[in-house]
Amino acid sequence: MCGIVGYVGGQSAQDVVVAGLKRLEYRGYDSAGVAVLADGGLAGAKKAGKLLNLEKELKDRPLPAGNTGVGHTRWATHGGPTDVNAHPHLDNAGRVAVVHNGIIENFAALREELAGRGHELASETDTEVVAHLLAEAYSSAGDLAEAMRQVCRRLHGAFTLVAVHADAPDTVVGARRNSPLVVGVGDGEMFLASDVAAFIAHTRDAIELGQDQVVELSRDGATVTGFDGLPADVHAYHVDWDASAAEKGGYASFMLKEIADQPKAVADTLLGRIDASGTLHLDEVRIPPSELREVDKVVIIACGTAFHAGMIAKYAIEHVTRLPCETELASEFRYRDPILDRHTLVVAISQSGETMDTLMAVRHAREQGAKVLAICNTNGSTIPRESDAVLYTHAGPEVAVASTKAFLTQLVACYLVALYLGQIRGTKWGDEIRTVVRQLSEVPRQVEQVLGTMEPVRALARSLADRDTVLFVGRHVGYPVALEGALKLKELAYMHAEGFAAGELKHGPIALIDEGLPVVVIVPSPRGRSVLHDKIVSNIQEIRARGARTVVIAEEGDEAVVPYADHLIRIPATPTLLQPLVATVPLQVFACELATARGNEVDQPRNLAKSVTVE
Ligand code: F6R
Repeated sequence: MCGIVGYVGGQSAQDVVVAGLKRLEYRGYDSAGVAVLADGGLAGAKKAGKLLNLEKELKDRPLPAGNTGVGHTRWATHGGPTDVNAHPHLDNAGRVAVVHNGIIENFAALREELAGRGHELASETDTEVVAHLLAEAYSSAGDLAEAMRQVCRRLHGAFTLVAVHADAPDTVVGARRNSPLVVGVGDGEMFLASDVAAFIAHTRDAIELGQDQVVELSRDGATVTGFDGLPADVHAYHVDWDASAAEKGGYASFMLKEIADQPKAVADTLLGRIDASGTLHLDEVRIPPSELREVDKVVIIACGTAFHAGMIAKYAIEHVTRLPCETELASEFRYRDPILDRHTLVVAISQSGETMDTLMAVRHAREQGAKVLAICNTNGSTIPRESDAVLYTHAGPEVAVASTKAFLTQLVACYLVALYLGQIRGTKWGDEIRTVVRQLSEVPRQVEQVLGTMEPVRALARSLADRDTVLFVGRHVGYPVALEGALKLKELAYMHAEGFAAGELKHGPIALIDEGLPVVVIVPSPRGRSVLHDKIVSNIQEIRARGARTVVIAEEGDEAVVPYADHLIRIPATPTLLQPLVATVPLQVFACELATARGNEVDQPRNLAKSVTVE
């Protein structure tokens, strides 16, 4: 939520900052702004709406040249998306510019205090108080980093702040608590951003900032301290993808590119996990096997699409390990006083590694003594840093707000965790594990195959563009797939879409069905647990008898569904537990195409942001 960029170096700060904001626009697109140090003062521009509005403004009225600057793209929390509420925010003298991601919980009291000292605040935001406090602190401390430390010690809540001061040329200062901020290390230039994507075109060398740290950037380096002023340890790392991975690469949208990236993302996530002797290795899992053997319960926490991956993981973990496993919405988890102890393994799934609901659940779990294993796609982000162990998915940067390739790789990671637990707890033989790993290694090819047959799905999606409602039903692991299909359609097409467990239809939702209502049915394999298959074929007949237009997703060779399918989407045959890896893909394509046909912008759906760093 909200993207932040800071720059000091030899290039035009306006150009570097705006290019960085373009890469961060997925984090929020309610308004955008930029400020640069120029001619001994500050110059800036900010505009409500997408970044395009700011770019147009800067084209019409370019800022004076300057080599130090900050920028922001906003997902509104306090105050509507207006020009005035857009960041950067300045103090009354116009000497300090601040951008902010997060929520300052005690801003009302601070605002009152500032008003009492004669400050006039122009916006409705919580951020503006920081600009005023910083100006005051700088006037006594004479040092921007020290002023930032003093101010941060007074703030409550979650905040990433980046600031410049007209009296401190060639200096950018940042602070981090509970929201992401990374330093980019260039040659004679330094960057600060919410995500490495903002500076990846300039450098792949980065420094992670820890909790409650302040960083001061000059052209030649970074100095990091705690909020208390003591020097802090930092972790430098090299980003293993380049600028081209964060480009659309010829696709009309990032979402289409990311859907197409899935075979590679799955293959990369599987890479190097099994050695020549057939033993599974998850190198980043730093919880000793002896402790994993003592685990008596697994709890999975996640939000949104990652939660759906977690629901599927429950089937795999219970099947493979025979350990009881619960999947919980991270936003509900800590409020119901969950039963956790040192024998509980909590698995936190998060693409961004920054989702505040999941982070708070992780902290709660660790406070209760549970071990936390993060499944995450973002190197160096907060959730893996605060967990006991991490298993990274290798999906590469996911820019479109709606999650696609991250979901498939989260599923792969969950299966690997299940197998790994099975291996060290002895509930699965080596050859059984090898069989599943071999089946997983087939998935990239199978996803490729699905992607190659999507034209009828796209045509169907276009034909449904004027409908109000689409329902999705599935059983077993097909149920979370149905929920995921409905979520994709809601967030992209802004349609009423709901997912149900097929067996629940008769307990209420079947009343929704009337003539012509599209119902997408995810059919389990007729091989294996055929009882599941038979039940869902009956469900299809029930809804069709009530007038539904059935869209049936079934594996190749399943002839039993043919008489009841108004539209039949074929997927390759997979083992039951792995079917979500192929069954989800047509639903992603369907939602993307339907949303496009309705004229919606698929990469940046309304009201959403990619990384949800508020609770
Ligand atoms: C939906 C979507 C969201 C995220 C959720 C969790 O397409 O992307 O539902 O899955 O906000 O985000 P992460 O995985 O970053 O914790």
